Amino acid sequence: MLTREENELLVRTGPGTPMGSFMRRYWVPALFSEALPEPDCAPVRVKLLGEKLVAFRDSSGRVGLFDERCPHRNASMFFGRNEENGLRCVYHGWKFDLEGNCVDMPSEPPESNFKRKVKIEAYPCVERGGIVWTYMGPPEQKPEVPDFQWAEVPASHRFATRHIQECNWFQAFEGGFDVSHLAFLHKGDTPDGGIRTLPKYYETATTDYGFVSGSGRDLEAGKTAWGANIMAVPFHKIIARPGDVPIGVHAWVPIDDENCMIYSIEYRPHRPLNDEEMEASREWRYIHAETEPGGDHCLRNLANDFMIDRELQKSGKSYTGLKGFGIQDCGIQESMGPISDRTREQLGTSDIHIIQLRKFMLKTLKDFMAGVTPPGLKADMYRVRSAAFVLEKGETFAKHAPERVRLDVPAMAK
Ligand code: FES
Ligand SMILES: [Fe+2]
Repeated sequence: MLTREENELLVRTGPGTPMGSFMRRYWVPALFSEALPEPDCAPVRVKLLGEKLVAFRDSSGRVGLFDERCPHRNASMFFGRNEENGLRCVYHGWKFDLEGNCVDMPSEPPESNFKRKVKIEAYPCVERGGIVWTYMGPPEQKPEVPDFQWAEVPASHRFATRHIQECNWFQAFEGGFDVSHLAFLHKGDTPDGGIRTLPKYYETATTDYGFVSGSGRDLEAGKTAWGANIMAVPFHKIIARPGDVPIGVHAWVPIDDENCMIYSIEYRPHRPLNDEEMEASREWRYIHAETEPGGDHCLRNLANDFMIDRELQKSGKSYTGLKGFGIQDCGIQESMGPISDRTREQLGTSDIHIIQLRKFMLKTLKDFMAGVTPPGLKADMYRVRSAAFVLEKGETFAKHAPERVRLDVPAMAK
């Protein structure tokens, strides 16, 4: 349970809010690179952290991201002409370059220097891993771009989708660290038939990028098998999965306070993904969710009750009657309301990771508001991945996990 004030701190990400200011200290995924396929192609609307923006690829192939409103009289830059290294508003012809400088103001007399005084709000962008990332914070505090392994591998090694979830970002983020739901919500859809036993141990270890969360199950006497998930600020997760399978990744990026964009990625560090291991994902049975053609809205959504199949639910083959992990998560998290009222919850012992996630975020946020440097500002802090390993009796998760998930620790030693 949280107080109303704590809940508000976690869920609000608009300009000027504490969480909004915190998130604006990081590079955030804005759109797929392929949405801007070539120089001078059509601009694309983007909404991030409550701000309406427009992305475009200029004549030189570089990506720009502007406030949607033209600084002249607020016309939408989405309708603009993308030409000769700039985006030109079609209302009165004002043109802006990638940095937001007004480079042409044909509606004013030629001798006027008014254009030198006008700028459009522009955010810097970089492209990594097939995604355009942007930085919306104070220019002098721009951090390094996170060095995620999934963003470095060749495109053939990676499969990425995104979909809109119609609820607050933190609700979806919490869902990613809710360990006990795996044995229920997804039952019937995991490769092992979903017969996952509940973990016996729940631990976390704080790191310089966030934390590692572990769930442990007893093996033979004196040994514990751990799955270690990564939580990386401000909204990333690397998923621990048993067996030799691609690594799964999520980023829950706030669109506004009642919608988030979920990026879902699977990758192999050292080889291309093959058809066999992609089958479940292509059929929308794993973490991805099927969207309308060319769009980000889920085909199965709250308006059609996520196309729940009551017969399938009754048959026991699927616990929910909802198709695939992605829609099961999306559906049940949206069912909690656009912004879940955490003042009326009753949490049990198996909710420990949710409690730890909230504690971490609230403490990090309060420290940030007090002037403490936030975590995760260096690229190489993100050189980690999820892991599964066995610890002997007497070895603690908190001591070993942070090292075991580092990419620079040889696999043999993990
Ligand atoms: S509103 Fe854009 S140029 Fe006038
Ligand atoms: Fe889930």
